[in-house]
Amino acid sequence: MSKRVGIFVSGGGSNMRALVSDMVGDHPARAAVVVSNNENAGGIAWAREQGIATEVIDHRPFDEDRARFEDTITAALVPYDLDIICLAGFMRVLTAGFVAPWQGRMLNIHPSLLPKYKGLNTHARALAAGDSEHGCTVHLVTPALDDGPILGQARIPVNPGDIAETLAARVLVQEHRLYPAVLRRFASGETAPLTL
Ligand code: GAR
Repeated sequence: MSKRVGIFVSGGGSNMRALVSDMVGDHPARAAVVVSNNENAGGIAWAREQGIATEVIDHRPFDEDRARFEDTITAALVPYDLDIICLAGFMRVLTAGFVAPWQGRMLNIHPSLLPKYKGLNTHARALAAGDSEHGCTVHLVTPALDDGPILGQARIPVNPGDIAETLAARVLVQEHRLYPAVLRRFASGETAPLTL
């Protein structure tokens, strides 16, 4: 039976689209729901067009009460009976209370070659450090931010003249290759790191 995947997005959702588009045919998983904290996330409209269930839980009414925000997400997820969560540009930090029950079953994509550049502004930081290569990482989510066992990485060279935007655009192309490839393997039980 197909694994049931929930995909969490906050923005454009291009990684979500890459994942959904790959989950066809003999793929061992299917998208069961797309979750967002932002009703205006581009990814939400696209998911609805595809006939995928969506759950929007705006974080703002919860102020800084992350636990109550996360409890609301947890309750919304129950009917979907998920096997795997993929964070795909979900820009809210999840606490240990949410992460712990999903440990080993929740993936994240991050736009750097972890363990370098956890957090934000990864492309600018790679440039500022004078790195000759950069890339993206898919990892299992643990309570520590952008930490956890690495499931795959894709590398690209930093070109002379690169600025954060050009680097981000080339890394994003790699994200769209890496995340589907990792999820496909992960859903069939393969956790050895993939290098692209
Ligand atoms: C992607 O570059 C993803 O790696 C990044 O946000 C972007 C979302 O784009 N995630 C993080 O920075 C998480 N720390 P998308 O909405 O088009 O997939």
